[in-house]
Amino acid sequence: MKKVLVATEKPFAPAAIDGIKSVLTKAGYELVLLERYGSVEELKKAASDVEAMIIRSDKATREVIEAAGRLKIIVRAGAGYDNIDLQACTDRGVVAMNTPGQNSNAVAELVFAMMLYAQRNGFDGTSGTELRGRTIGIHAYGNVGREVARIAHGFGMKTVAFDPFVDKKDIEKDGVRVVDDVEQLYRESQFVSLHIPANEKTRGSIGHGLLSMLPEGGALVNTARKEVIDEAGLLKVMEERADVRYLSDVAPDCREQIEARFAGRYVFTAKKMGAQTAEANINAGIAAANQIVAFIEDGDRTFQVNE
Ligand code: 3PG
Repeated sequence: MKKVLVATEKPFAPAAIDGIKSVLTKAGYELVLLERYGSVEELKKAASDVEAMIIRSDKATREVIEAAGRLKIIVRAGAGYDNIDLQACTDRGVVAMNTPGQNSNAVAELVFAMMLYAQRNGFDGTSGTELRGRTIGIHAYGNVGREVARIAHGFGMKTVAFDPFVDKKDIEKDGVRVVDDVEQLYRESQFVSLHIPANEKTRGSIGHGLLSMLPEGGALVNTARKEVIDEAGLLKVMEERADVRYLSDVAPDCREQIEARFAGRYVFTAKKMGAQTAEANINAGIAAANQIVAFIEDGDRTFQVNE
C-alpha cells in the first residue's frame, strides 16, 4: 500500500485531515500523519518510507529529500514553494508541486484584519481611522492580490497594482489601476500589500528606498515572506519617520527591536496564519491529495514547479 506523509509543523484543521484521508483511502493509499514535529530527524524518519508527501511551510531541504528514498512527489499545500529544495527534487527524480489559489481568500482576509486592527489602534477604545477612500497598492497581482482587490473594493478603497508579469488588461478588468513602476506604487499607496514570492530576485528587495516613498501615515502589509524585506532598511525608515507602520503576518528577525522602539506602529501575528483557516486547509489539503493521486495513477503533472 502506498504511503502518503502529511508533515505539518503547523497542523491543518481536523476537517482538512479528514478530507485528505478520504481522498487517499479511496485511492487505496495510507495516510501517515506527522504534526508539530520537533526536529529534522523526526521529519526524515517519517519521510523515509513514503511515496508522497504533503507539507506546508515545512522545510523540504536536500537532506530531507535525500532521506525520503521512495519519494515520487512532494506537494506544498499552498502557494509559495521557497521552502522546497527544487534542485534536490529534480536530482532525485521527485516531482514538486504547489496548490495555487487554494488558500488565497484566507490570506487576503488577513490583510484586512491587520489593516483594521491598525486603523482602530488595536481596538484599545480610542478613536481610529477608516479604510474607505484610502488607497491600497497591491504589489504583485497573483491569486492573493486579486482577492485583496475584490475585498478592497467592498471597503470602498482605491486600488492600484504593480506586476510586470501580469497583462495590464487582466488587472484593469478587475477595476484596479495599474502603475508601470514599483516606485509609483509605493508613492501613491497608504497601504502597500505585498504578494511577491521569495526568490533570488526578490530577497531583501523591499527596503529603505521604497519604504521611504510611502505617503504620510503609510503602512506596509506583509502576508508574503519575511525574506523579501531588507530589515535594516525597514528599521531605518521606521526610525526616520514616526508615521510609517509595519503590519506583518511573518514576524521579522528584528521583531524585538521593532517592539521595543516603535510601540503602536506594528502588528505581528503570533504565528504565520494567513492560510490558517479551516476552509484554506481543506481546499489546499484536499487539492494536494488529489494531485498526488492524479500524478501516481495517471502521471498528471499539472502544477509541477520543478524541471
Ligand atoms: C502559502 O505560501 O501558501 C502561504 O504562505 C501559507 O503558508 P502556510 O501553509 O505555512 O500557512
